[in-house]
Amino acid sequence: MEAFAMEPFKIKMVEPIRITSREERAGILEEAGYNTALIRADKVLIDLCTDSGTGAMSSSQWAAMMLGDESYAGAASYYRLLDVCREIFGYKFFQPVHQGRAAENVLFELLFQGEKKYAISNAFFDTTRAHAQFAGAQVFDFPVKEALDSEADYPFKGNIDVDAAEAKIKEIGPGKIGFIIMTLTNNALGGQPVSMQNMKDISAVARKYGITLLIDAARFAENAYFVKQREAGYRDKSIAEIVRETFQLADGFTMSAKKDAIVNIGGLVGIKDNPDLERGVIGRVIPYEGFITYGGLAGRDLEALAVGLKEGMDYDYLKYRVGQVERLGHALREMGVPIQYPVGGHGVFVDAGKLLPQIPADEFPGVALANELYVDAGVRGSEIGSFCLGYVDPKTGKEVPAPMEFLRLAVPRRVYTQSHMDYVVDAFRGILAKKNKLKGYKIVWQLPILRYFTARLKPL
Ligand code: F0G
Repeated sequence: MEAFAMEPFKIKMVEPIRITSREERAGILEEAGYNTALIRADKVLIDLCTDSGTGAMSSSQWAAMMLGDESYAGAASYYRLLDVCREIFGYKFFQPVHQGRAAENVLFELLFQGEKKYAISNAFFDTTRAHAQFAGAQVFDFPVKEALDSEADYPFKGNIDVDAAEAKIKEIGPGKIGFIIMTLTNNALGGQPVSMQNMKDISAVARKYGITLLIDAARFAENAYFVKQREAGYRDKSIAEIVRETFQLADGFTMSAKKDAIVNIGGLVGIKDNPDLERGVIGRVIPYEGFITYGGLAGRDLEALAVGLKEGMDYDYLKYRVGQVERLGHALREMGVPIQYPVGGHGVFVDAGKLLPQIPADEFPGVALANELYVDAGVRGSEIGSFCLGYVDPKTGKEVPAPMEFLRLAVPRRVYTQSHMDYVVDAFRGILAKKNKLKGYKIVWQLPILRYFTARLKPL
C-alpha cells in the first residue's frame, strides 16, 4: 500500500448531510421499489452510488467558470479547451459533448458501417454496450481470466486477453470489426487498470488487421497512476508522459469527463488523425449536441473542463485519490469483506456473490447488500452485477447473469473525508454479523435495456 496521503486540499464550502433514522430509511427503501437508485439523494448519508459528475470542483475551476464565453459560435472557452486537449493527448481533433454517452452516440455509428457490425473490448461499460447495440452491432468482452477471480492478486486486472481477442477477430473476419475499445480503467470489473504493455499488444493487433482502436477514457488519469506505480519502466515517468504514450497507441477516444476530469457535466471525442471520421463526427454532433464550439455544454462548462483535465492528472492529487479508495478497500478486506483485489481506482467493489453465497445471481446478491447497507447506515452503493449488467434473454425469457456480482462503493472525488470512510467501514461490521440471514430480490418492473436505474423489486 502507498504511504498514506492526506487530502491535498482545504475545504472552503460545505454541503450539509441530513441524518435519517433506520426506521425512516426502511420506509424510504420500500417506497423506492427496493432500488437505491430511486431514493432521493437528500435521504442518503454517504453517497457512493457513483464517482461520475459527483466530484467537488476546485476554487480554480469555479474561478475559470466566470471566464466562460457563452457565444454560440467561436467561443474563446472552446479554443482554451482545445489547447489543453492538444497538449495532453497530442491528437488533431477534439469535440466537446455533454457527457460520455453522447461521445459514444456521436462516434460509434460512424464506425459500424456496412459489414462492420462487431466490436471488441476488455469489458464494455453498460452505456457503451447499449450504444453499440443501438447501432445494430454485437459486442464481445475479453477480460483476462484473473479479473474474474476477486482474490487473484494481479496488478492489471483491466487488461484484455489479447489472444482471445485476436482469435475472435480471425473467426469473424477483420473486415467486420467496427472497432476495439479499451476501457481505462475497467469499470465493469472493478476499476482495474490496463498496463501499457497490454495497450501496446492490442494496438499491434489492431494495426495488423487494420482495425480502429479506441479508448473509453473516463478514468484515464487513474489508469496512468497505476501504470506509474506498478509497471516496470514507468516509475520515473510523469503522469503526463504516461497519458501521452497511452493515447498515441490508439486512433481515437470517447471520454466521460465527469470522472477523472472532475467536472459535473461534460465529455469529449478525440481523433488522432482521420479527416473522414472528423467530418462524420461534426455531421453528427450538430444535430445531437449543438454547434461544434460548444457541443451541448455552456462556455463555463468548457472552462471548468479545461482546468479539471489538468487537475485530474496531478500526481499528488492522484496519490490521495487512489490512496483513499485503497485504504477503504484494505480496511474492509482486513475485516473479512471479500472485495475485488487489488483495490481499483475509483471504488471498492465488494464481491457480493462471495459474501452472500446463499443468494443466487438471479436473486441479485449485490442488490441485497446495497439495500441492507442503505437501511442500516444510509450508505448508498451501486450494484454492478446481474441487476446492472445482466438482462432477460428475449429468446428464452431467462435471466442472463453478469460475470461477477459486485456492490460498487464508488468514491466521489475530493468530496468525502477519512472519517466518512471510517463510517462506511463501521457499517460493514453490522452487515458481516448478519450476512447469513440476508435474502434476495425479484424484479417486478423493468426496461429491456439499462434497467437498473428504474427497475422496481420485491424482497423474497
Ligand atoms: N464509459 C465508462 C467506463 C463509464 O464508467 C461511463 C459512466 C460512461 C462511459 C458513460 O459516461 O455517464 O458521462 O454518459 N459511468 C458512470 C458510472 C455512470 O457510474 O460508472 P456518462
